[in-house]
This record gives sequence, structure tokens and C-alpha cells, in this order.
Amino acid sequence: MKSAREELFIDAHTTYSFTNEPVTDAELTEIYELVKFAPTPMNSQALRVHFVRTPEGKDRLLPLLNEGNREKSASAAAVAILAFDSEFDKFLPEHYPEIPNARDFFKEDDKRLRSAREMAILQAGYFILAVRTVGLDAGPMAGFNHAGVDAEFFSEDSWRSLYVVNIGHSDPEGQRPRNQRLSAERAIRWS
Ligand SMILES: Cc1cc2nc3c(=O)[nH]c(=O)nc-3n(C[C@H](O)[C@H](O)[C@H](O)COP(=O)(O)O)c2cc1C
Repeated sequence: MKSAREELFIDAHTTYSFTNEPVTDAELTEIYELVKFAPTPMNSQALRVHFVRTPEGKDRLLPLLNEGNREKSASAAAVAILAFDSEFDKFLPEHYPEIPNARDFFKEDDKRLRSAREMAILQAGYFILAVRTVGLDAGPMAGFNHAGVDAEFFSEDSWRSLYVVNIGHSDPEGQRPRNQRLSAERAIRWS
């Protein structure tokens, strides 16, 4: 049996092609149930997730992906649209009661939007690791028409798309080799 560090980091790869094995809504929900525990600034939790797992949902999403990305999502059992909530601050009084006026920090639209995006991007990293934690494989992608996805899926609300993540069981046939990683010597400084 693999160790957690092998499952989540050392042996885990971005997945580009999936088997036909289905993924249940319970498994997809479990991903979020893990993500929610990972830390965010002021417990802001700006990430939102729309799971696309029906043929009808994929018909709406796939034309909005970059052409080279469509086949990857077509083969995935589910595709998560990761979004940030531009009105994440409305939950702060509930989620961060130790600062009762926490919402005041985000009064200006610019700052609120920038913060929501940054906080949700942090959670998107957690999301990829949570997919691996529940025993599934993930293929995150930024190559899609964000405005188009927002218009198709989020026109009625304050959610805005960030990434899509293909989810399922990796097909060993359609994968790519691991590219070189930046060495510790290049990435770390000490004082
Ligand atoms: C936020 C993000 C966006 C990405 N966007 C795309 C994409 O649009 N299309 C694609 O084929 N791969 C995309 N990738 C995949 C990366 O190229 C891949 O994760 C990286 O090269 C590491 O591959 P490995 O996990 O197999 O080592 C994306 C990855 C991340 C994390």
C-alpha cells in the first residue's frame, strides 16, 4: 500500500484520460467535505463548486473549453467547475465571529473580488489534493472561455469561474510523462 505522500504528491499525476468507471455523487461530495477543513484567510472559504456529471451538463460545458481540452473532459466521469463567490463576505459574521466587523475589510468591490479570487485559488490547490485523497484522479484545466462558462452556469448569481477539474479513474494509456520539477536549490532560500 502506498503512503500518503506517494498517493498525494510523489506518484500522483495530472490526468488527461479516464476509464469508463463511474464516480458517485457521494464521492464528489466527500471531496468538498475534505476541502472545507483546509485553512483560508479569515476562514473566508470563497471557493464554490459546480459538478457537471450528466451528458446534458457536458453538452453545455464542453463547447466552452479550449478545443484541445474537450476530449479530456469528455472522458472524465465528472467535471468540477471551480469558482469563487464574489459575495463570500456575507458569511464572515458566521464563519469568523471573532472579528464582528470583518466584512468592512471587503467593502470596496475591487478588493473583495481580488480577495475572493486569491482565497479560492488557494482552495483549488486543496481541491486537487482532496480528489486524490478520496482515491480519484484529477485533471485541472484553466484553458476555457471563462466569460462563457459564467454566462452559461452562473448568470443568476455571484459565482465566477476559476478552473475546471476533470475527475475520475485514470486510464494508464492516455497519460503524459512527468516533467522535470524545479530543484530545491533553485526554489528555496535560507536565512
Ligand atoms: C491550474 C491549472 C491549470 C491547468 N490548465 C491546463 C489546461 O488548460 N490544459 C491541460 O491540458 N493541462 C492543464 N494543466 C495541467 C498541467 O500542465 C499539469 O498539471 C502539470 O504539467 C503537471 O503535470 P503532472 O502532474 O503530470 O506532473 C493545468 C494545471 C493546473 C494546476
